[in-house]
Amino acid sequence: MPLRFTKTFTAMALVSSFVLVILYSFLNMPVTHSRREAVETPSVTNISPARAPTTATTSEKRSSTQPVFSTTAVPLVTISEAFIKNIPKNSAFWNRKFHSLVKELAITGGHPARHTGCRPQTTESLRMNIQDFNSYPELYQEFLAGMDCRSPPIIIDQPDKCAPVSGTKQILLFALKSTPGHFERRQAVRETWGKEEVYGESLIVKTVFLLGQTSGDDPNLDKLLTFEAQEFKDLLLWDFQDSFYNLTLKEHVFFKWALYRCPNVSFIFKGDDDVFANTPAIFNYLQSLDADKASKLYTGQIISDASPLRDVKIKYYVPESFYEGPYPSYAGGGGFLFSGQLLKSVYLISQYIPFFPIDDVYTGMCFKALGIAPEKHIGFQTFDIREQDRENACVHKGLLLVHRRNPQQTKRLWRNIHSPLLTC
Ligand SMILES: *[C@@H]1O[C@H](CO)[C@@H](O)[C@H](O)[C@H]1NC(C)=O
Ligand SMILES: *[C@@H]1O[C@H](CO)[C@@H](O)[C@H](O)[C@H]1NC(C)=O
Repeated sequence: MPLRFTKTFTAMALVSSFVLVILYSFLNMPVTHSRREAVETPSVTNISPARAPTTATTSEKRSSTQPVFSTTAVPLVTISEAFIKNIPKNSAFWNRKFHSLVKELAITGGHPARHTGCRPQTTESLRMNIQDFNSYPELYQEFLAGMDCRSPPIIIDQPDKCAPVSGTKQILLFALKSTPGHFERRQAVRETWGKEEVYGESLIVKTVFLLGQTSGDDPNLDKLLTFEAQEFKDLLLWDFQDSFYNLTLKEHVFFKWALYRCPNVSFIFKGDDDVFANTPAIFNYLQSLDADKASKLYTGQIISDASPLRDVKIKYYVPESFYEGPYPSYAGGGGFLFSGQLLKSVYLISQYIPFFPIDDVYTGMCFKALGIAPEKHIGFQTFDIREQDRENACVHKGLLLVHRRNPQQTKRLWRNIHSPLLTC
């Protein structure tokens, strides 16, 4: 009896999978067909004459909703004159790299060779190019060795982070630099200002935490992170070492991720996981912008007229033989806001502008290369406020961001700025 049953069952399974295969290929046919067409059709004006008019209309419609990574569009890379003029032509390594890019842009008419993947610099070539390379701090040497590696694979992704929510028109994405061990900070953000909720029925908050890998000396947190990612669906983890000099790489891969996963995001708040952001105030501010200003937004606490610090003991140390010249004005990396409409161009330019070891300076460079100057907003206090105001809810109610607050302070402040008893 079991044998007969198995036979019948096998026969049934065979027949049904056959039916499924037929059905699948039927269903799939128009899709592969139109996808091919869309790729072959770079723009609406370039329709192959051989194609019948009816198919042309459908492919026109389809190609207008092509993903941003379309292979057909070859974007033009341009760097603003103002930025080029700002970078002195001298023997410093970064300056030379930058000006050889400028030259390549001029020769190729804005189509420089695409360097994807990783081309680690050998110590020999670095020694040859930088006289005092041996005296650089070890981490600095590591940064230089990897500065042309831009494409680490993603390990934990959130493909549906920006899936459309009916009724809401705009997404504000919080992208927060975190590291694997910061569980408590992340939880405080989730419970307070980073909670994924709708503001004013028009804007929805989405939050992601940007992570690299812990180094081999640290405890292995992989299982905890996997659990956390499944539970909260807000972790992004890439395969590179999470360290200070890799924050520029973190920013670059975030741009790429956001462009791919959140192409329609309206605004991005990029910052640290230990800031206090006043989301209602950010919402009100964003609502107050006109369309033109909103489309070019790059705002925060602006650091102007800064130059490299030459003291090797300081975190922000930059050797003379690496970079010479002023920094462009930039928004402090503790937290700043920019327009989702700039994502595509800032990602493109960050594929070419040589990486810089300080991430917010690098962001400022990329925006300056696009011809966008940061705009000051006094509500961003990345260097914190007066000591006596640090627990004062009324003061915080008027701010958009302060750096830094611990998880307990964050929870308390959030509760207090929402308290009905608060009279400011
Ligand atoms: C950045 O990450 C890469 C890849 O994990 C690593 O090889 C490199 O040492 C890191 N750089 C720094 C400065 O930590
Ligand atoms: C983005 O917006 C376009 C046009 O409004 C729409 O066709 C597309 O489906 C949207 N993409 C996502 C991922 O929401």
